[in-house]
Amino acid sequence: MPSHASTTAAPTRVDADLAYQRCINSRCAATLPVDRAVFSCPECGDLLDVVYDWDRLPVPSRLSDFEAKWSRRLDPLCSSGVWRFYELLPFAPPDRIVTIGEGQTLLRPSDRVARYVGVDNGNLLLQYEGMNPSGSFKDNGMTAAFSHARMVGARRVACASTGNTSASLAVFCSATEFGFKAIIFIGSGKIAYGKLAQALDHGALTIQIVGDFDDALMRVREVADRLGIYLMNSVNPFRLEGQKTVMYRVLEGLGWEVPDWVVVPGGNLGNSSAFGKAFQELKHLGLIDRIPRLAVINAAGAQTLDLLVRSHGMTWNSGLPDESISRAYYDRLDREQIRASTIASAIEINRPVNLKKCLRALEVCDGVVRQVSDQEIMDAKARVGAGGLGCEPASAASVAGAKRLREEGIIAPSDRVVCILTGHQLKDPTATVAYHSADQDEFDRVLGSRGVKRAGFANRPVVVPNELDAIIRTIGLYSDAPAPG
Ligand code: F0G
Repeated sequence: MPSHASTTAAPTRVDADLAYQRCINSRCAATLPVDRAVFSCPECGDLLDVVYDWDRLPVPSRLSDFEAKWSRRLDPLCSSGVWRFYELLPFAPPDRIVTIGEGQTLLRPSDRVARYVGVDNGNLLLQYEGMNPSGSFKDNGMTAAFSHARMVGARRVACASTGNTSASLAVFCSATEFGFKAIIFIGSGKIAYGKLAQALDHGALTIQIVGDFDDALMRVREVADRLGIYLMNSVNPFRLEGQKTVMYRVLEGLGWEVPDWVVVPGGNLGNSSAFGKAFQELKHLGLIDRIPRLAVINAAGAQTLDLLVRSHGMTWNSGLPDESISRAYYDRLDREQIRASTIASAIEINRPVNLKKCLRALEVCDGVVRQVSDQEIMDAKARVGAGGLGCEPASAASVAGAKRLREEGIIAPSDRVVCILTGHQLKDPTATVAYHSADQDEFDRVLGSRGVKRAGFANRPVVVPNELDAIIRTIGLYSDAPAPG
């Protein structure tokens, strides 16, 4: 896939008043041009949105009109699963777009997973973002942020990461020829091997600091500010523009029908924020007639959103969330030295930067929040694997959360539920192998130490002497066993 801009003749700039940035704080609502790269409101420090003057932009009258792009798929902007929806994120001139063929993903029903969750056959769909070039949903956002970086002439790009953002950033730098240099910050011992391998293999400057993701994010923001480096974390609103397209592809996969539920893991809360914005805009544009419900699933051990929303009643409150609630919670984390801790290392985050945008998404989508244990995550992950699409632990939080919501009667068996599988199975082989391992020590080291018990879903390797009879006997026993459910 060539990593260059479209050959389609198109304007080289977007009019300043057609796309711009705006502070999400309704009391401030400061605006700034789309070609600034500041990543927080210069007036009040709050998060920024990318906003569009939809009345003056050419938006297709039906979502199905986007299907016409399939016939032009030799154009990189039409084959990208992000940029074929260009009209719904038109902040970058087409000749600045940086694409590596991201977003060619799959929406697949799984009746095995439907049975596990407890919904009717055909009603559980897995949106598999592991098919992206770097193996996670992050590429959807990176293509958008890199396009913005190119618009503003950035060269050095940086992020803090639990592993997938950094892998994606490293891939985009190494796959393109625009002179981008990758600098990534990771917490020590906090990143799954598959992801660390990607950062190293793709040549990123990898800075490992003592601390966790929350520490690394604070540090990279400071460093980026000081050195004028372009920041690629999801506090960057352009990243979230790209991540909106995960929802467009879900709708596309359903023949443009709106599902009842979208269930997504919550870490830094970029995805959930982007999904809410996507649906709000589609409804505003008259391209959908109803908005699906959103379920955001924390890992227990990194459950800030769940606690703030369900125990402390924090809400969007028309753009003025009560920040004293989150401040008091973070003060407590500091005082008691509480650190995020979960087997789902991708979402091992206690201070989600997009908290407020996620609160807005929950309001837009009549959303719910839950937390699920490491046990629920690992069991759900095994069922996803047995159902044909491998994912990493954090991704399986969506399936575990759907099951929980079904058990509580919030999701009905007849509801059509889309669970987002955010990252590929091979990102974190350590967790998977430990779960299935026949070796108790290996299990205990990785999972038992986290309170996970051996469950019936483990598919243990069978140790057999290297003798023909013994091997044949083992295969006979396996063949007689009932097929997995
Ligand atoms: N699933 C996976 C596989 C992730 O890597 C992440 C986040 C999430 C879910 C959570 O998404 O932040 O949008 O709520 N990973 C980040 C990283 C933090 O650095 O790779 P979110």
